[in-house]
Amino acid sequence: MKNTPIILDCDTGVDDTMAIILACVSPEIELVGIGTIWGNVDLDLATQNTLNILAMCGKADVPVAKGATKPINGSHQDFAYFVHGDDGQGNKGMKGKYGKEISLSAAEFIVEQCRKRPGEIELVPVGPLTNLAVALKLEPNLPKLVRGVTIMGGTALTPGNVSPVAEANIWHDPEAADLVFRAPWPITMVGLDVTMKTLLTEKHFEQMRQAGGVAGYMARISEYYTTFNEERSFGKRLATMHDAIAVGIAAGLVKAKVSPNVNVEVDITSGPGRGQTICDLRGIYLDFPAQKNAHCQVPLELEEGFAELFTARICGAGEAAVDIN
Ligand code: RIB
Ligand code: CA
Repeated sequence: MKNTPIILDCDTGVDDTMAIILACVSPEIELVGIGTIWGNVDLDLATQNTLNILAMCGKADVPVAKGATKPINGSHQDFAYFVHGDDGQGNKGMKGKYGKEISLSAAEFIVEQCRKRPGEIELVPVGPLTNLAVALKLEPNLPKLVRGVTIMGGTALTPGNVSPVAEANIWHDPEAADLVFRAPWPITMVGLDVTMKTLLTEKHFEQMRQAGGVAGYMARISEYYTTFNEERSFGKRLATMHDAIAVGIAAGLVKAKVSPNVNVEVDITSGPGRGQTICDLRGIYLDFPAQKNAHCQVPLELEEGFAELFTARICGAGEAAVDIN
């Protein structure tokens, strides 16, 4: 299979870390670079976490570009330290600081790379969509220059996780998300419909602990996050792997069994629907007939086995290339 060139865009907390490690260790992926964004944690911390994880995986040569510190309309930002810990690494991150970001901004980096390699790159934003919205303003032709955009964010038929209807990455910056969903590029919206159903268990984490090295680090930083998942979502020790699923879908490591191509709109009102991704699934009883102008695939059900594939990949990551204590 041909490698998929990917630019990730991360607000690096725990599940972003899962996504970055998966991208580093998967031969199907060429990790072109990573943009960073505020979201789970502030921008500086998201950037340092990203640099540290790349260094741990022996991929310190992958460029990291800093992005937005706040939503595109300049309004306030909220963080999710209560989900990812004060260090965005479950309060068990490594002490050292490795690497340095490049001088281009995340949006400039996206535009530069997509101009260099028209039609090749898959953008995989797994945080708020501000950097992509800024990139669209810098290069209005960007939708013609990418292979596609695989977004971790939104939800179609499943409740939201920050409001009854909104998922965090969209809710952080609905105006940016609106620009991104309106742009005429092929989108895959990897939302809570699939990410709340494909979960890591204690059995997976025990395998990672046994493997040690990078996998041991992944298990160590996931404890706090799993406790959050237990208390707030599942009532047992299960962990979501939202961002890793987006990487898996983007690179073909996991396929959707049901993924209609439908129109999606983002609610940018200030009412209770703010941040909702309104997906036109009215064709559900007719096997989703084609919709005019639709350019967004919405996976509703995945093949089995991704948590196992993910665990095997992470367990094969080997020793850390830097001191992770
Ligand atoms: O709603 C889940 C998403 O919000 C994930 O990308 C998580 O890392 C946070 O950014
Ligand atoms: Ca994220």
